[in-house]
Amino acid sequence: MKEKILVTGGTGYIGSHTVVELINEGFGVVIVDNLYNSEAEVVDRIAQITGVKPQLEVFDLCDREKLNSFFGKYENLSAIIHFAAYKAVGESVKKPLDYYRNNLLSLINLLDLMKQYQIPHFVFSSSCTVYGQPEKLPVTEDAPMQPAVSPYGNTKQICEEIIRDTVVSGVGIKAIALRYFNPIGAHPSALIGELPRGIPENLVPYITQTAYGLRDELKVFGDDYDTPDGSCIRDYLHVVDLAKAHVTAVRRLIEEKNKSGYEVFNLGTGKGVSVFEAINSFERATGVKVKYRVTGRRPGDIVKIWADPSYANKELGWKTMSSLDESMETAWKWEKYIRNKK
Ligand code: NAD
Ligand code: WQD
Repeated sequence: MKEKILVTGGTGYIGSHTVVELINEGFGVVIVDNLYNSEAEVVDRIAQITGVKPQLEVFDLCDREKLNSFFGKYENLSAIIHFAAYKAVGESVKKPLDYYRNNLLSLINLLDLMKQYQIPHFVFSSSCTVYGQPEKLPVTEDAPMQPAVSPYGNTKQICEEIIRDTVVSGVGIKAIALRYFNPIGAHPSALIGELPRGIPENLVPYITQTAYGLRDELKVFGDDYDTPDGSCIRDYLHVVDLAKAHVTAVRRLIEEKNKSGYEVFNLGTGKGVSVFEAINSFERATGVKVKYRVTGRRPGDIVKIWADPSYANKELGWKTMSSLDESMETAWKWEKYIRNKK
């Protein structure tokens, strides 16, 4: 019988790409999403890519009663991959309670009911934001967490702690937290991708929207940092590579290879890329110029961070395959697809 996986937030950006990879690898998938930041038709596009339409249940994970009925209906789930969360750093500073309520309550409801329904395996979307500005680069999983600079970042730290404590309490749940660096790009079919609400906070959607003419110019937030070209450095990875790591994480749990019960993995390329290098890559990959202007620093920005992904390379047998240029090319293809559709 097919192993069935619950993917929360499965119509969202990273979730939808992961659903595609799970289906490609022969897993059954049911998605729970309240469509706060995504559209129901994503499941039709997943069906176009894979030939299989995943089940979609639309409700809010903070609603414990609805979640309880859901678990009553879907028996024998092998694992849960929990993507559903609010994720806008700037918004979280303005609406901290919304972020704490949504990101913490959805997690607590899930873990509580997993216990009740005896679902043994859990994969969590964490973030490199938990490291703040690390002292040593590349950053390894044992680097200390720094005080979070935003309520969003704090929810990721607290969620990791809640999961670890739940595993340690011995209720029969094993978990993997995946700390993503900067996911970018879209599926090569251009049928799924990132759908930012309003003005994008993140660099790559801002680049593609500027290239498309939706924004006048990209503001480069500072060129006077202590880095080779003065702009900040990040580790950008292709979302399809990231999605594949979730399949290996689920397999590791199902095959009982997760010995300690709770494991944490960095997911990145291991290579730092500056803002100017990212712009150059986009222009090289697409042949389209991006109008930009250097402005002041963005408050709270980390100067430089990139992953040491060797633990994931070794234990998950996972590494990134796509180049930065390929990621930019797919991000651009997706931008054109959604604009022409609207
Ligand atoms: P996304 O907003 O595209 O997807 C999240 C999905 O969850 C959305 O479809 C939204 O409608 C749904 N959702 C939110 N709250 C819900 C709730 N209470 N009940 C049901 N559904 C709910 O975000 P994404 O970029 O795909 O991110 C997925 C996860 O990865 C998040 O946990 C995010 O914090 C984490 N993450 C993202 C990044 C990034 O740069 N995109 C980096 C590190 C970590
Ligand atoms: C990348 C670089 C900006 C926009 C965010 C979240 C973090 C995590 C990853 C979820 C920085 C510069 C950006 C622009 C710019 N997400 N930039 N002009 O800062 O790594 O972090 O995504 O967990 O929590 O905070 O990503 O894409 O916002 O910025 O110059 O218009 O691009 O200063 O150096 P970041 P980002």
